[in-house]
Amino acid sequence: MKAIIGGTGVDTLEGIQSKRTTIETPYGEVEVFVGEGKDSNLVFLPRHGSEHSLPPHLINYRANISALSQLGVTEAIGIYAVGSITECLQPGAIGIVKDFIDLTNGREQTFFTGGEKGVQHIPMDEAFSTDLKERILKEDPSLVDAGVYACSNGPRLETPAEIRYMKAIGADIVGMTLATEVALLREASISTLALAYSINWAAGIKQGEVAFIDNTTISSLKDRMTKLCRTVL
Ligand code: HPA
Repeated sequence: MKAIIGGTGVDTLEGIQSKRTTIETPYGEVEVFVGEGKDSNLVFLPRHGSEHSLPPHLINYRANISALSQLGVTEAIGIYAVGSITECLQPGAIGIVKDFIDLTNGREQTFFTGGEKGVQHIPMDEAFSTDLKERILKEDPSLVDAGVYACSNGPRLETPAEIRYMKAIGADIVGMTLATEVALLREASISTLALAYSINWAAGIKQGEVAFIDNTTISSLKDRMTKLCRTVL
């Protein structure tokens, strides 16, 4: 089974016949869309919830990834809206995330909580699958290297000083979800690729106030990414 994990602006998978299904996990219930017919090997997980949008710091990441595990998912592509800090990935572009820095706090971000659940320290030298990266680049060689993703806690956007700090420690893009999600995907042994699409320059970069790209552009990026995921998975 393969999964597409969608974020802000990617809440459904158009053109894919699927059935809304509730999965019970030890961490809570999760709504997913399981593909039917020729798409029966595909599941779509809207990370912010299927109807009401959960803010990034309140997403039940462990329930989400646990649900994918229960469905037998072995590969997942996550789609992440980001702000651009460097020129690596400019607003309106789609790229492949290379690495991340976790700047979140207070989130439940491991399955290995000790006791019966055990203690494990999952290596993160290669957080992302090189195989998935090769496959997606073969399909679309125009995807850029999106660089390093800094994961802020949110839900507020960053201050210009926080963005300067992120830039100084090596970040190219900023978002609020990837680090928590990818750590859990790795713990669940699900091979992962992260597609980032930029919707703004981050605070203090090239502008006085954060301005987002228009919704029509966002929808066409979203279509391109979901089609690409479908072909590659
Ligand atoms: N900051 C954090 N998360 C984001 C941004 C941003 O500027 N844009 C899209 N997601």
